[in-house]
Amino acid sequence: MTSSENICMRAAKWISSGRVNEKACSLPPETYQKTFHLDGLPAQAKLTVTALGIYEAYLNGKKVGEDFFTPGYTNYKSHIQVQEYDVLPLLKAGENVLEVTVANGWYLGRIGNQFNVYGNCRALLAGLTFDGAVIPTDESWRVTLDGPVRFADFYDGETIDLRKKERQYFPVQLYAGKTPKLIPHFGTFVRAQEALVPVGSRQGARGTIYDFGQNFAGVVRLKVRAKEGTCITVRHAEILMDGKLFNENYRTAKAALTLIAREGENEFFPTFTYMGFRYAEISGDKPIEVLSVEGVVYSSEMRHIGSFACSDERLNRLQSCLVWNLKSNFVEIPTDCPQRDERLGWTGETCTFSRTACFNYDISTFMNKWLFDLYSHQVDGAVPSAAPSTGMYDPSPQKPIPLMMWGDSAVVVPWMLYLAYGDRAKLKEHYPHMKAYALSEKREAERHGKGLKQYLWDKNKYQFGDWACFGKTWYTWNRRGKHLATLWYYNSVNLVKEAARTLGYSEDEKAFSELAANIQRAFLKAYLRSDGSFRHAHFMSMYVDALYFGILPERERALAAKQLAELVEENDYKVMTGFPGTPYLLFALADNGYPELAFKVLLNERCPGWLHMVKHGATTLWERWDAIEEDGSFFHGGAGMVSFNHYAYGTVGDFFYRRILGLETIEAGYRTFLVRPVCGPLAEAKGELQTAYGTICVAWKKEGGKFRLSVTVPASCAATIVMPSGTEHPVSSGDYTFEEEL
Ligand code: BGC
Repeated sequence: MTSSENICMRAAKWISSGRVNEKACSLPPETYQKTFHLDGLPAQAKLTVTALGIYEAYLNGKKVGEDFFTPGYTNYKSHIQVQEYDVLPLLKAGENVLEVTVANGWYLGRIGNQFNVYGNCRALLAGLTFDGAVIPTDESWRVTLDGPVRFADFYDGETIDLRKKERQYFPVQLYAGKTPKLIPHFGTFVRAQEALVPVGSRQGARGTIYDFGQNFAGVVRLKVRAKEGTCITVRHAEILMDGKLFNENYRTAKAALTLIAREGENEFFPTFTYMGFRYAEISGDKPIEVLSVEGVVYSSEMRHIGSFACSDERLNRLQSCLVWNLKSNFVEIPTDCPQRDERLGWTGETCTFSRTACFNYDISTFMNKWLFDLYSHQVDGAVPSAAPSTGMYDPSPQKPIPLMMWGDSAVVVPWMLYLAYGDRAKLKEHYPHMKAYALSEKREAERHGKGLKQYLWDKNKYQFGDWACFGKTWYTWNRRGKHLATLWYYNSVNLVKEAARTLGYSEDEKAFSELAANIQRAFLKAYLRSDGSFRHAHFMSMYVDALYFGILPERERALAAKQLAELVEENDYKVMTGFPGTPYLLFALADNGYPELAFKVLLNERCPGWLHMVKHGATTLWERWDAIEEDGSFFHGGAGMVSFNHYAYGTVGDFFYRRILGLETIEAGYRTFLVRPVCGPLAEAKGELQTAYGTICVAWKKEGGKFRLSVTVPASCAATIVMPSGTEHPVSSGDYTFEEEL
């Protein structure tokens, strides 16, 4: 902590209104207040603050900082972040008023089917430090529950009443409950990134439906003229069905705003909630004049570092979809979806999507914070299926078990961060957790077998498996998990081996290398038939993961690739893989002699396929391939698990950068790299990536019977450029263009 944080946190006491949240979200937000006098302006002034709940601070009526949902979501059972703001510009000589409003947020608000997960009472800890003096939270503060925000919850929305009302203040109590350990803010901040203006509007069942033209995470900011007491309702949806708002897929999340106007002009801007939506329907119980409507986009603050575009507009739209998936689901934690009563830090899709994410944004700060939380839940190496964890979806909440792909995020995510950004010190910090997770898989496998069988992780009853694979039921997804588990185990062991090699831990490198060899032997013996097909399992994800994770020797590899190619052809180039296979399907084909099939799958417009979503107007990718069916109707399986903003299938972005542009890091962080494009039927492609050394640019084009490739290699870097013919050009920093006959 900085010195002002220290001074202040030593002097400050946790204060509370003492009001208990008895039912889900029964308590309106509360505002703590302190007035103080300054003879003159100090040389500097800092506000150090955190809360059990989410807070927004105001000094003399002006918002402190530009962040939302602070102190952010961490494993509150263990730790909580503390923020520090420079507030000098907001102070004045004379009377000053410091106010901090605290709402339920993640601490008390609804999470999944629970509430009050971390406690049932809100509290505030803050201090204003200036020129050596401190105004800390203590018994002298007062609090009111009579502010304009009458209700706030992430899932259910917000109620704001702008009518004038006398506020009843009462003295605060000292908070006697257990509080998490304080740690200085180390994540990113959620901020309003942009304001979308509606691209159209139409009459809906209850009011006017505004179309923002884009599915996103955020809120509506609304200016209206209305009569005193008019009640305005804003409902949200990702899609329209027969011209009407359709949000049954939000499940129990009400995702609505109730806004009560004062006479004349009103501006409503909810700041303690957000929704995932493209459409908002605004209605009033009395006539209203809408002066302006904006869709304020919320996302965690990250630097945009990559771009990809090609000659096929449909793929460009797909790229835009997955970037919006990222923006809407990297909101404080990597969520599965921004709309329904879930929005949890699910590990599974974060495991596979992290590589695509690294190409588009600098996610290091965001993801390192999430890993800190993930690891804070680690017990005997295993991690929960979502982080921060409420234990809700784990078979035994207090003691997580290793889970194929979901748990492997403990190994895969830090390794992806290392490859992308080259931060060796971070890798070193993560290494013990990566190793512990791989060893938890080892123990799990050993529990069920002897001899070679101890290397097969195929007995766990609880696996999510080939999640969301088209046309199959939960039962099939789960059952496939036990076949895929050994492959993911093998991959994690290999990545830990690579990490050990990078860090110079030679004993570990040797041990994990031997373990990988044993898993490989056991797998080949148990699974592979002589024609390259798999004995117990004949489904796409199985071939894909076996090929991509490199468990097959050369001859077997060619045979299995042929089996996969046949499966792909039999299925009319449709994507018959769930969460664990989809990220690597195109790689498994393109890297094993079937690049033309990879492009047929990528460019297939039928369901299930990426361009099916694009063809049906997706602006973010969906959780289910058939969320909208080929005939345009809504998912026939019902609204229970159909998000229109899930990034699991956005993992295709990895193929755009690593194969279509051909950009692969050789030395972590792109100090040395490879450019070897796989062009398929595309006429051209281009992209950029900002690295720590500078910006890499790749652009290729087919024209007049020639193939031309231009690459910019940043200072201190070296690259190997491989043309489609296989000709290699080793180069150092500079701008290069190579050409060859097609
Ligand atoms: C989530 C997924 C998640 C899965 C785990 C779903 O409800 O939305 O994305 O990975 O559960 O089984």
